[in-house]
Amino acid sequence: MKNQIRLRNKEIGIKNSLESCKYLGSEVLYLDKTDSTMEDARKFISENAPDGTVIIAEEQTLGRGRYNRKWYSPKGGVYISLILYAEIEKEKQGILSLMAGVSSCESIREYMPDANIKWPNDVLVNEKKISGVLIEKIGNYYSIGTGINTNTDKFEGEFMVEPASVYLLSGNKIDNEDFIISYLKNFDENYSLLREKNYNLILAKWNSMASCFGKNVRLRNPMLKEKEKEVFVRSIDENGLLVVESDKGIEKIISGEIFY
Ligand code: BTN
Repeated sequence: MKNQIRLRNKEIGIKNSLESCKYLGSEVLYLDKTDSTMEDARKFISENAPDGTVIIAEEQTLGRGRYNRKWYSPKGGVYISLILYAEIEKEKQGILSLMAGVSSCESIREYMPDANIKWPNDVLVNEKKISGVLIEKIGNYYSIGTGINTNTDKFEGEFMVEPASVYLLSGNKIDNEDFIISYLKNFDENYSLLREKNYNLILAKWNSMASCFGKNVRLRNPMLKEKEKEVFVRSIDENGLLVVESDKGIEKIISGEIFY
């Protein structure tokens, strides 16, 4: 995006706070406004971005969600893309998606202890969506985009799941910079577990935050022939696949989304 303004003081503050991180913070970009941090990440990746680059924007004009949906991104929320260079075994890529959700849920729980995860990585409070994750794979790079409704004070548009923000639910404004640092530190710790192949610990954390087990839900995957069906959620398996029961018996679901 043209005319992007980098907020250098914020970049320095965040970079200094990430000194203890193993993977994140080699480069920090903090923009006042952009079209989408996913687009910025793509551009940096094409220029061989360093592993662990963090891109943050205070506002997005073309924020993207999963399945080509829009991500409402006014000032007040937190919009981050992380660039990671890693070879992750194909069957363990689902765990990367779960750990991104665990990281935002851990940070949101510091303000709202009731926050929980809807498979694979949406964070909900009172069944309203507070944050979502979009992952794109570009060669051996992963661009992990997370949008968190921290101080958003109103929502406009159409949403698959009713959105809310920490502010609207609690009445308290969050310091977004503190939130960002907490999120990045949690992410770095969980990503370290992934890189050390400590998958069981990530799965245990995810299981302890999940709100979907034992529920009848609508399972949706617009990419498949059977776009939507009712299923009963049993568990997740060792690769993060959702184990569900339907009239066809037990199935393991690789990707999609569920609605309560
Ligand atoms: C979802 O549909 O739940 C995923 C939303 C992901 C939104 C984030 S905000 C930062 C990054 N930039 C984008 O344009 N999208 C992701």
